[in-house]
Amino acid sequence: MEKVIVNDQIMNRSDASVDIEDRGYQFGDGVYEVIRVYGGQLFTGDEHLNRLYSSAEKINIAVPFQKGKLQSMLNKLIKENDIIDGSVYMQVTRGASPRNHVFPGEDVKPVLTAYTKVVARPEASLESGVEAIVADDIRWLRCDIKSLNLLPNLLAKQAAKEQGCYEAILHRSGTVTEGSASNAYIVSNGKVKTHPATNLILNGITRQVVMELCNDNNIPFSEEAFQLDELLEAEEIFVTSTTSEVMPIIRIDGKVVGDGKPGPLTRKLQSLFFEKIGVAHTK
Ligand SMILES: Cc1ncc(COP(=O)(O)O)c(C=O)c1O
Repeated sequence: MEKVIVNDQIMNRSDASVDIEDRGYQFGDGVYEVIRVYGGQLFTGDEHLNRLYSSAEKINIAVPFQKGKLQSMLNKLIKENDIIDGSVYMQVTRGASPRNHVFPGEDVKPVLTAYTKVVARPEASLESGVEAIVADDIRWLRCDIKSLNLLPNLLAKQAAKEQGCYEAILHRSGTVTEGSASNAYIVSNGKVKTHPATNLILNGITRQVVMELCNDNNIPFSEEAFQLDELLEAEEIFVTSTTSEVMPIIRIDGKVVGDGKPGPLTRKLQSLFFEKIGVAHTK
């Protein structure tokens, strides 16, 4: 029987419910995280939980437990659901109260829910690379908060899907920010570049891992905004996220990137990443 977390309880999924006036459901008034599970263990669990607490704090939601307790409940959930390779989704909303834009009083408690999923690693796409489109970044100006409000991201991802592509790389007036559900990078003159961690992007946990890998392996890297023309002329493009890992982009808006195959720095970062998560990469 699949188990889920609702507040401080681990229960059968079939027994779990949320109020129809939950503010997450009505307003998207909450924050979330997705954490990868590799070999039955949370990958960068601490970092994700820190970001959850930080996102919640930025919108004045108090996560109902201490981090240590949440982490042990998540570990228990992973075990009970027998997740080896998968992910944990978790969200915290401002709680359930009669619909009103104004925040409810302190008597209304935040609602935390979490569940697990079996997710295979996207091995074929990691090997071959994928295609992306370019789309306007029409999101709000607090993309640093991992908020439940994802409508602009969904519209961009759907546009990509309808054009047979995996991801939409977003830009604001020509400045590339990130992907609809990933961080975006180019390799230009042998250097990896990605948008700085400002309010205009989510500071991805995978992004932080990639930065560390560049740092430790003398791969030239800079947190530096770049323009659409630089994207379209890049030697290599890749995106990163918890589920996509280090994903090569081999065609952007129909234009072939480099020689149409994942480039050498992308491959290097992939193999360093595989090592980090404990996957033997034979290529
Ligand atoms: C908009 C956006 N940017 C970046 C990321 C990558 O973040 P992470 O590496 O923490 O998964 C995500 C992940 O879902 C995202 O939705």
